Amino acid sequence: MSIVKLARPEIQTMKPYEAAIQIDDTVRLNANESPEISPIGNFRRPLNRYPEVRPRGLQSKLADRFGCAPQQLLVTRGSSEAIDLLIRTFCAAGQDNIVTPTPSFSMYWHYARIQAATVIEVPTFAENDFAIDIDAVLAACKPSSKLVFVCSPNNPTGTPLSKDDIIRLLEGRDGKSAVVVDEAYVEFGSEGSVIDLVDHFPNLLVLRTLSKALGFAGARCGAVAGPEGVIRLLNAVQSPYALATPVVECVEDALAAEQLALAEKAVEKIVSERERIMSAIESYAFVSKVWPSQANFFLARFRDADGVMQHCAKNNVLLRHFGGALSDCIRITVGSASDNDCLLRALDTLTES
Ligand SMILES: Cc1ncc(COP(=O)(O)O)c(C=O)c1O
Repeated sequence: MSIVKLARPEIQTMKPYEAAIQIDDTVRLNANESPEISPIGNFRRPLNRYPEVRPRGLQSKLADRFGCAPQQLLVTRGSSEAIDLLIRTFCAAGQDNIVTPTPSFSMYWHYARIQAATVIEVPTFAENDFAIDIDAVLAACKPSSKLVFVCSPNNPTGTPLSKDDIIRLLEGRDGKSAVVVDEAYVEFGSEGSVIDLVDHFPNLLVLRTLSKALGFAGARCGAVAGPEGVIRLLNAVQSPYALATPVVECVEDALAAEQLALAEKAVEKIVSERERIMSAIESYAFVSKVWPSQANFFLARFRDADGVMQHCAKNNVLLRHFGGALSDCIRITVGSASDNDCLLRALDTLTES
């Protein structure tokens, strides 16, 4: 059953912004642009002109890469923007909620708060390797739960969710909630994407990003894939001209076959480094647990997490420390071999102090 009817009623009837038409080789006096072309930058498209309202070429390329039809995908400013668009499209302020396992990616809370949507948290537990309990997620949902966010592999735990579990969640919330599967780190794991399920489950939305495996965090580019009707709504909500010309051109270049082959090699290196530093870190006496991870980071529990953070910072190595249930844990991003050696050298001196 289509989930378009779950969107805020005023969004369901909204039309996309009507931008000035853009036709090459015409005298363009319809968009209050400058006729002057700046010598700054070396782009294929002139920067005095607005970019396309939606970058259609890039949309096709990304759809191809991720495995869906172009009309099932919206290009966004990082997948962060997609989270924001989804919450604004589906949640009426002060009325609706999102459901998500915790701990998870803090942007779900951030954008929910901006939209005055509440967050129903479903705890996962360290003793259970932070496995997501699908029955508990389903039980936590209410009629006003418009979106269920599951991150797989999850940030900051590195835990993946199986395709079977995702299907159970989709079936359990059929016609009642959109299930948003955030695949920011999917390339580093073995579960693979569930984007192929978009054709079979009308309540599935999948988030992808170019910030992690492709190494283009600075370009701010991501995508949301899902049913055409929902993509149309998100398109109406997204700012016109959201993707700047330099970004579109840089990402088009990043999607060339030889660049993708390099990115694939980089992922292999990161995965092998992940295994190397995880086992090195496990061997320190002051580390009590390292959780398995399918991402480009992992979570470890330290006897004195604050002390480790300070010691590493003094040694020029920055790590990520969270509060609450994870206050004794640190999330470690897998860097280059030499970055990782810096971390291990810093930790070696902690053993000696
Ligand atoms: C789980 C998850 N989703 C989405 C994002 C957002 O990524 P971006 O906006 O760079 O695409 C991040 C970034 O760290 C993340 O960890």
